Amino acid sequence: MCGVFGYIGIRNPLEVCLSGLEKLEYRGYDSSGIGGIFEGQIVLCKKAGKLSALKNSIQLPQISLAIAHTRWATHGKVNDENAHPHLDFTQSIALIHNGIIENYKELKNDLLKEGITFSSDTDTEVIANLIAKYYEGDLVQALNATLSQLKGIFALVVIHKDHPDQIIAAARDCPLSIGYSDQEDESLISSDPNAFEESNYNIVFLKDDEIAKVQKKSIKIYNKNLDIISKKIERLEIDIRPPSKEGFEHYMLKEIFEQPLTIKKALLGRYDEDIFFEELKLSTDVLKKIKNLWILGCGTSSHAGRIASLLVEDWARLPSSVEIASEARYRNPLISEETLIVAISQSGETADTLAALKETKKYHCPNLGICNVKNSTLARETDGVILLKAGPEISVCSTKAFTSQIAVLTLFSLYLARLHNQLSKSQVKTIFEELQEIPKHIETVLNQLPTIQAIAKKYAKFEHFFFMGRGYMLPTAMEAALKLKEISYVNANAYPAGELKHGPIALLHSQFPVVAFCAHKKTRDKIISNLTEVKARGSPVLAIAPSDDSEIKEIADDVIYVPKTRDELAPFSSSVVGQLFAYFIAKERGCDIDQPRNLAKSVTVE
Ligand code: F6R
Repeated sequence: MCGVFGYIGIRNPLEVCLSGLEKLEYRGYDSSGIGGIFEGQIVLCKKAGKLSALKNSIQLPQISLAIAHTRWATHGKVNDENAHPHLDFTQSIALIHNGIIENYKELKNDLLKEGITFSSDTDTEVIANLIAKYYEGDLVQALNATLSQLKGIFALVVIHKDHPDQIIAAARDCPLSIGYSDQEDESLISSDPNAFEESNYNIVFLKDDEIAKVQKKSIKIYNKNLDIISKKIERLEIDIRPPSKEGFEHYMLKEIFEQPLTIKKALLGRYDEDIFFEELKLSTDVLKKIKNLWILGCGTSSHAGRIASLLVEDWARLPSSVEIASEARYRNPLISEETLIVAISQSGETADTLAALKETKKYHCPNLGICNVKNSTLARETDGVILLKAGPEISVCSTKAFTSQIAVLTLFSLYLARLHNQLSKSQVKTIFEELQEIPKHIETVLNQLPTIQAIAKKYAKFEHFFFMGRGYMLPTAMEAALKLKEISYVNANAYPAGELKHGPIALLHSQFPVVAFCAHKKTRDKIISNLTEVKARGSPVLAIAPSDDSEIKEIADDVIYVPKTRDELAPFSSSVVGQLFAYFIAKERGCDIDQPRNLAKSVTVE
């Protein structure tokens, strides 16, 4: 994880870097730091805590260039010492780093034997010292020699006190972009080009151990043999509007309320008598030939994948399996050229998802990315992509991206169903019309905010929850439980409702509530029986049920009603209830809702 940023040019490097870090804070907020060169010496300022802590304490002289970092801790505690940049033992080199050096222990032991001392617990300091060891006047050469020693995935940005006119960067399987301007004498480096302040930069992406020598007026890229290579230059549309809460107390609440609109955007321009995707580069011939799907994602995106898997089975009649990406990459999967890989990621930068996708390439499967960030690695590296068009999601806890994911996956499942002759045009029309009603359904849920808030307040005292559901309500329950865990720090486990009696029911008692998602009509009577079973054990029961289910209030202690719809579309409204329930519990417990502890918006380490 972590965000790296660098600037060399005519503007104040400190200001440009602080502004860059603001846009990269989604990648980690354990600590941040900035380093530069002043009068032939490296100068640093680094601080544990959020970027605001660094901003409040920063005091640096007029530096000629700057490298800056926002950290999500992997090696070593969250403290000032472990914050980046890190220096080598001669204090000549400063380095920032995103990623993990898997063999850092053995490298560190070798350096210790050579008498080199360390002042942090990080793997990063090992890299700085290796570069110093190989340095003989040329930083590019020293970094190249160092790269050959490193195992893992990483992006590195380095400066040397004797070279105040250059920043050196390198990347292996980790996003790193260099931007330079035609108009001004300036160059920038960032983990994410969306952190550049303007959209008129020429951008190159580094990969495969390429090294960039970045100067005010020039950029040189070297391959492993240290030949200068030419790279594809991209011009990206970058949304430079600063994020705003628009009057909401938190980004999460704002993003929850955006959902009627973001779902409309996900559907817009994708139906005209039949489903179509303008940007999807995968040909219908390829999609007609597929025999199964392998769906990859992490966290919330994997829950969207579970819903997609059910939709594809129900409508396109194609088998599919959903794999947590961190597991998928170490499997020996039974996939082939007739398997469609669907990689789902809001950020498009999740390391596990990207690595799993890369792993599938050797099977020559066609692949599709479902992604919100159009300039992301996933969007660039998949054969086809469907964009969510949900706009930037700032809150670490994903809300609007999830419902947009299931909106586009619903469309894609219908699209596959048509290609595989499983649904008629008129059947798709009916479903699409019902899908268009979903934004209104969500508004109905949002209008119940006071009721949901009052119920959440009542449940905020409990430390443990079971969430349960069946069919389409199982991934919905899993997603709702994840929301509660990540922002309220409350233990919430999701189970298929029928599975509780095979063990977990032993945990239930009067202080262990059950939240039951009951909007799956096909299994409605079964979940009623499951509810009576948990009620008999004394658990408080909160049910989320369709508005026409009058019986549920006889069993549950509390009910939140959602508009009725077909089973396949039920996850939308019920998920919004789950989001609001988690939000108000977290608020009641005084948690840091938009930036929960230990988390980051984009998980760029494995
Ligand atoms: C939960 C959440 C995470 C992400 C996961 C994958 O609210 O946001 O579980 O869903 O880290 O992230 P993306 O979708 O960016 O790959």
